[in-house]
Parts: sequence; C-alpha cells; structure tokens
Amino acid sequence: MSNYKSYRDLPPLAGICPLTEAVEPGLPVEECVRRLKRYHYSFKRLHQIYTASITAEPIYELKMGFSLHAHLCAEHATALRRRVGEMREPPLGLESIPDANLEMFFDEILGAPTTEELVLGLYEKALHALKAALGRHLADTNLLADHPSVRVCRFALLEVEDMLKFGAQSIAGLIDDTVRQRIESWLALLDDCLAAAGGLDGTQTPAGKALARHHSARPYHYDGRPKRDERFPDPYNMGVNAEVFLYDEKFPPEPKTLMMFYKRLREVDVPEMMASILTETPDQPWDYYRDLTRQLWDEARHAMMGEVGFVSLGIDWPKKVMVNFTWSLGLNTQLKPFERHAVLYFIEQGLMPRNGKRFEWEVGLASHNPLSALFQDYDWADEVLHARIGRDWYLKQFDDPKTAIQYGDRCWSRVLMGWGQWRQEGLTQHRNWWPEVYRDACRHWGIDPDPAVLAFSTSYQQVRADLKTISTSG
Ligand SMILES: [Fe+2]
Ligand SMILES: [Fe+2]
Ligand SMILES: [Fe+2]
Repeated sequence: MSNYKSYRDLPPLAGICPLTEAVEPGLPVEECVRRLKRYHYSFKRLHQIYTASITAEPIYELKMGFSLHAHLCAEHATALRRRVGEMREPPLGLESIPDANLEMFFDEILGAPTTEELVLGLYEKALHALKAALGRHLADTNLLADHPSVRVCRFALLEVEDMLKFGAQSIAGLIDDTVRQRIESWLALLDDCLAAAGGLDGTQTPAGKALARHHSARPYHYDGRPKRDERFPDPYNMGVNAEVFLYDEKFPPEPKTLMMFYKRLREVDVPEMMASILTETPDQPWDYYRDLTRQLWDEARHAMMGEVGFVSLGIDWPKKVMVNFTWSLGLNTQLKPFERHAVLYFIEQGLMPRNGKRFEWEVGLASHNPLSALFQDYDWADEVLHARIGRDWYLKQFDDPKTAIQYGDRCWSRVLMGWGQWRQEGLTQHRNWWPEVYRDACRHWGIDPDPAVLAFSTSYQQVRADLKTISTSG
C-alpha cells in the first residue's frame, strides 16, 4: 500500500480522506444506524425542550437563542431521519426511545424549574455530550463507506459548536458559583443518566447505578403564559396602534419606519405563541414540527430586526418602546392550539392588499432608510414561505380556503383583550409612548418633529391590528 499512488498526485478518493484511513474498517451499517438514531433522538428531545421553554423564559436573549436552537435541532433531526431512511427499510423506529436512561436525562432537563438549571442542562450537559458523540462518529466510521452520514454529522457539529458558544457566553453571564453549588447534585444526576445510558451514543459500558428521577419525578407541565424580563416594563400596554398610523396616508414614510421597527420587535410574541402550538399539538408527522419551527425562528428573527432598527437610531427601546405580550397571552390562555393556528393563518393571509408586506417594503424604500427597506424585504420574503407552511399544515384540514380563513377570523374575535380590566388592575395605563420615541428619532435625524405626527394618539382600544373594529374587547 505504501507505494500506491494516485494519478499525478491528485487527491485520491475524491479528497474525502487519505487511503491509510479508508482501508480501516469502521462502523458496520447496523452500528452506524444505532448511533444515528441516538443523535436523532437527542436532537428531537432538544428541539422539544427549546420549544417548550420559549414562552415562559423571561430573558429576551435566551428566548431568541432558544428559537434559533429549536430550529437548528429540528433541521438536524430531519437530516438524520433521512439518512436512517436511506439505510433501513420501514419501519425505521424513529419514534421509539433508544434508551430509558437517555429519556430520563432529557426529561430532567425538560423539567428544569429555573433558567439556570435549564441553561446548564442544555449547554453543559446535553449539547456537550452530543458534540462528543458526533465527533466520535467521525473518528470511528469509515469516511468513504459512510460518507453520507459523515456529511450529516459534520454539518450538525458545525451548528452544535455555535450553540455551545452561545451557551458558554450565557452561562458566564448568568451563573455564579453559588448557583452551581445549589444544583450540583442535580448536575451529577444528569451525568449519572448519561453514564447509565452508556453515553449519549451508547458506546460505553452502561454504569449499573440505580437512579431516581428529580425534576421529572412529577409529570411535565407546560407553562403557556408568556413572560418577559425587566426590560419590558409595560407588557400590557396597548396604547400605540402601529397599523392605524402606518396606513394613514397623511403621515410621511420616515416616522412610519419607527412603527415598522415596533411591529417587527413586537413579533417576539409570535414565537411565544407558536411554541405553544408546537408543544401542545402531539402526534403530528415530523415535518409539521420542522416546518412550524422554521417559521417560529423567522418570527424571532423579525423581532430582532426591529431591535436592530431601534438601536441603529439610538433609541433606547427597552425604556421607550412598550413591547406588549397581549396577543400571545390572549391566544395561549384562551384558545386551543388548533384555534391559535387558525388565527395565525388568518393574520398571515391578511398580509395582503391594504396592510400588506409589499406596502411595508415600499414605505421602507420611500423613507430612504436602507435598513428598514432591507428588513421589510426579507420580512415579506419569509411571509411567502409562511403562507406555504400554512397551506400545508392548516388549510389542508378544511374543504375550502374561505372556510379556513373565516374560522381564523372567528377564533381571533373570540379572544378577549382585557383593555379596561388591565388598567383597573393597575397592570398598565396604556401610556402613549409614541411622542417620546418620535422625538428621539427626530433628534437622531437632526430634524424638527412634525406636529401632526407628534400628536398621533390612537390606541388598540377600538381597533385591532388588522384594522377591524374590536367588538368583543373586554
Ligand atoms: Fe410574522
Ligand atoms: Fe414578520
Ligand atoms: Fe410570518
């Protein structure tokens, strides 16, 4: 073998690996599939945990990170499913649990009662173990024979490492030694679960230690009430009606970009709501979860585009812009998961003529704010995908599209917004925060505020976001 040469020293084996590695027998198909199924199970459980944590996690940065990581895990689970399907005939056994101790490991993290435990469990334990397992696959398998799996593992590793980086920085910012000491024994339990499973990939001899469930001793309960951190001081505030301003022709495009940044940032409530649909709708085909999670991530991305927009104008959004959670709160607590999906579909189909995405993009262009125009451009493009996802997973359940849309409209009309009640209870004064934000932006632009724009004070008391008069509001 030592005198084997490729033609003119060109890379042999399509450049995959040197011959010295390719001659080493690696994992047989049976063992390869067994391991892939465990990575798949891990990504699936991680996707579930991330999704279930988005709504009630108060910290905005984590909410956004979890939205991305849910999406990434769903994508890698999808790739692994496809790969397993290439090597085995159905039934593929992708819905079965590969190891009871691995199940307990993920159940424990799902049941983590605090942000600190959740973050440590996810990043220091689960993703850390997953990275090691994927790395081991690349080291153990025959890179030529098992090349399709190698690709799947390499791509997964790339993003697992991104997730770990996010996790390490979050842990550094959130967790001190006191916290670590408090939950030391639980962290040790997670290690024990993995040891009892023979490692995440089941390549080690399983430890024989008997384990008792801790956080997962009681059945998991999903918390669908959205929570926000202290930078959202007035989450019931419905004092500034962005749509009424946006579609009023008498107002110029520049201040409208502020309302569009507000509308984007307020989209943080869409992941909060979609996470509840995903978590509370079991037994759907895998692609349902994958597609809806992609949409969930897009909505989180739109929220961050709004954040970037305000920061670009030097506006202290957490103090000045009242980003409410009234929509996700109302839908999650008053409607069934399918009814929430119906409302989402109704709203997204309604992003058509008058209050359409094209209109928002045109306002962005006319405003000469290139960032606003760019964000609206992508917001619109994403919406095209969301319409397709809606057709695939919601519309299919109806005989005709009209009934499907009417049903969504009816569901939304049923959601009671406690406008007056919230004020009575002292939860909000529905303060009109618009003039202050507009003044700050004018200072940034170096112009004098337009008195008509400054005087805008229409709230959501009478008119809901699609400009229909609210008749059922409490
Ligand atoms: Fe959206
Ligand atoms: Fe959007
Ligand atoms: Fe959308």
